[in-house]
Amino acid sequence: MTIESATSRSDDQTEFDAATFDHFGQEHAEHPEQVWAALRRIAGLAKSEKYGGFRIISRYDDICAAARNPAVFSSAKGVAIPPHQLPPLIPVGIDPPMHGQYRKVLNAELGPKAIARKEAEYRELADQLLSEIGDRREFDFCEAFSAQFPERVALRTIGFDPEDRQSLGRWFHDMTHLRGIDEEAAGMAAMSMFGRVTEVIALRRGEPRRDDLLSVLLDGEVDGRPMRDDEILMYIVLLLFGGLDTTASAISGAFYYLAQHPKDRERLLADEVALDRAVEEFVRWTSPVQALGRTVTESTELGGCPLREGEPVLLLWGAGNRDETVFESPDEIQLDRFPNRHLGFGMGPHRCLGSHLAKTMVKIAIERGVKALGHFELADESRIRWATGEARGIVELPLRRRG
Ligand code: HEM
Repeated sequence: MTIESATSRSDDQTEFDAATFDHFGQEHAEHPEQVWAALRRIAGLAKSEKYGGFRIISRYDDICAAARNPAVFSSAKGVAIPPHQLPPLIPVGIDPPMHGQYRKVLNAELGPKAIARKEAEYRELADQLLSEIGDRREFDFCEAFSAQFPERVALRTIGFDPEDRQSLGRWFHDMTHLRGIDEEAAGMAAMSMFGRVTEVIALRRGEPRRDDLLSVLLDGEVDGRPMRDDEILMYIVLLLFGGLDTTASAISGAFYYLAQHPKDRERLLADEVALDRAVEEFVRWTSPVQALGRTVTESTELGGCPLREGEPVLLLWGAGNRDETVFESPDEIQLDRFPNRHLGFGMGPHRCLGSHLAKTMVKIAIERGVKALGHFELADESRIRWATGEARGIVELPLRRRG
């Protein structure tokens, strides 16, 4: 069956109309699992009529097949549905073979060895933030820690000086959190951020190189020529967009779960589960990047559904991560789940370049946070706030410490 406007029953037996599916829809932000399951059950590929219409790829195997075939499922028209107005983000908006050249520039610098070298420095940053919580009994964990930690790590690792970090952090926050609320302020913040990053790139060209990503980008070459400043800008913008809110979501999702599961918290404290496995499981379960787009370059077929040249498709990583044909009890967290070949970091040539950094941050956050906070629980469930869209996660998490 090929479906134009498919319906399926979600688990609570209400009829779900795929044509209305909207990854920005706030109604599914907290509990998308029933909609994801309903989409996976639709034969062929469901079609949403939102944003001009797009096909939804929601089963694990179909997502992998598309993500591994960039010649047919291209990123060159951007990976956002609806598209944003920015120049291509590098390297996520570049198709192979050029994609590999851009990716190569930061591959080693974001690899496991390079990140391991920085672990002690990151741990210190985490401890500093946790100590600033002091003896407050109730606090918003996102504001105090999960939003701050990845931001501090990323801005320092990219190579911004301390005096720039504060304003860049504020502009980034306004750009992402005021979108849809105060467009003018969000736009101003974006202009300020792009302007300052452009200035820093130009200034740093003439300075001695340092131990940071910007230095590596300044010396980076593609196609046998040095990377241009505008390309470095779009690379840095992607590192910020791709690395901050995503890692923050994985950390806040982990603490949301641990606040409600003291036994698992104890197991982590007692080293009864391998932290690396728990980190992978939190990334699978939270799926901070729940969906990204591709454009079909030639007539093809996927999951029993014909696709036309030019058709936009949405890879619903989040739904793939809950596919019961791959993961046992997929909606449950099993801290020592293994194997865990989840799609949280994507799949194929564009698989997350920052995954080692991200996993190190989540690992440090759990390791230090669980120790520092002691017994904690949700303070007020009605104040928990979920953001949604291509990225999804908790952006306000009131916690209360006990004892
Ligand atoms: C838990 C946190 C993170 C998650 C869930 C995540 C998820 C993803 C996903 C799903 C993709 C695939 C994009 C696609 O196929 O179109 C991706 C790509 C990417 N991510 Fe991450 N990411 C995270 C953290 C980070 C961090 C910390 C950085 C860097 C500082 C980063 C940098 C990138 C870059 C540069 C790409 C593009 C890779 C390419 O196109 O070859 N990410 N990420």
